[in-house]
Amino acid sequence: MSLRTRFIDREVARAIGRGTEQIVIVGAGYDGRALRFGGGTTRWIEVDMPSTQADKRRRLAALGVTDAVSYAGVDLMVDNLDHALTAANHNSSEPSLFICEGLFAYLPREVNVSVCRVLRARAAEGSVLTFNVAERAATQDHALALRGAVDALLAAVGERRHTNFGPGDAELLATASGWKVVRKESSAPHRLDQGTRLLVLAAEPG
Ligand SMILES: C[S@@+](CC[C@H](N)C(=O)[O-])C[C@H]1O[C@@H](n2cnc3c(N)ncnc32)[C@H](O)[C@@H]1O
Repeated sequence: MSLRTRFIDREVARAIGRGTEQIVIVGAGYDGRALRFGGGTTRWIEVDMPSTQADKRRRLAALGVTDAVSYAGVDLMVDNLDHALTAANHNSSEPSLFICEGLFAYLPREVNVSVCRVLRARAAEGSVLTFNVAERAATQDHALALRGAVDALLAAVGERRHTNFGPGDAELLATASGWKVVRKESSAPHRLDQGTRLLVLAAEPG
């Protein structure tokens, strides 16, 4: 978590420092970056399931916190992300930072490609896409058993994993949808599952 938070925070700081005025967080969940980095001229758009957004907004209101976020309630499996971003006033002729943190494992591969392509089509020059994945090498039985247990736990809280990323898959997702990877960091292998590491990337329009 700390590696991905630091990497993506740096992308946000870099984007704001370069004068990027719109930041789109796809699969934002309870992300607090609009609160942590907000207050300037940046426009924030958060995309997530309508039910998740309603809960987040209720919790923020209960805390007396107001944010300046445009909420685009979208089920990425069925709804049209492109139309939703237009409705949320995303301007595709200006640079954007697009953040997809902790998202792509929960969507099928073809939906991931479609999301990245929609974002690429809306990416003016100077835009950046940043995302992370858990990259898994083929490993031994005990590691597979551990993954099975983690998958079962995630499924129990309604977060079923749809896509596993092998070596090179994250880069392929970026390039296949028209992005060029420009920065990348990976963690040391996971302590319990030596075949898994976190990978976090930043890409520019290719
Ligand atoms: C693991 S959470 C990550 C949240 C946040 N980006 C973070 O890193 O803390 C995955 C998020 O993706 C959202 N998500 C999963 N499937 C989705 C779908 N089909 N449409 C829209 N959002 C989805 C979930 O609602 C959840 O907020």
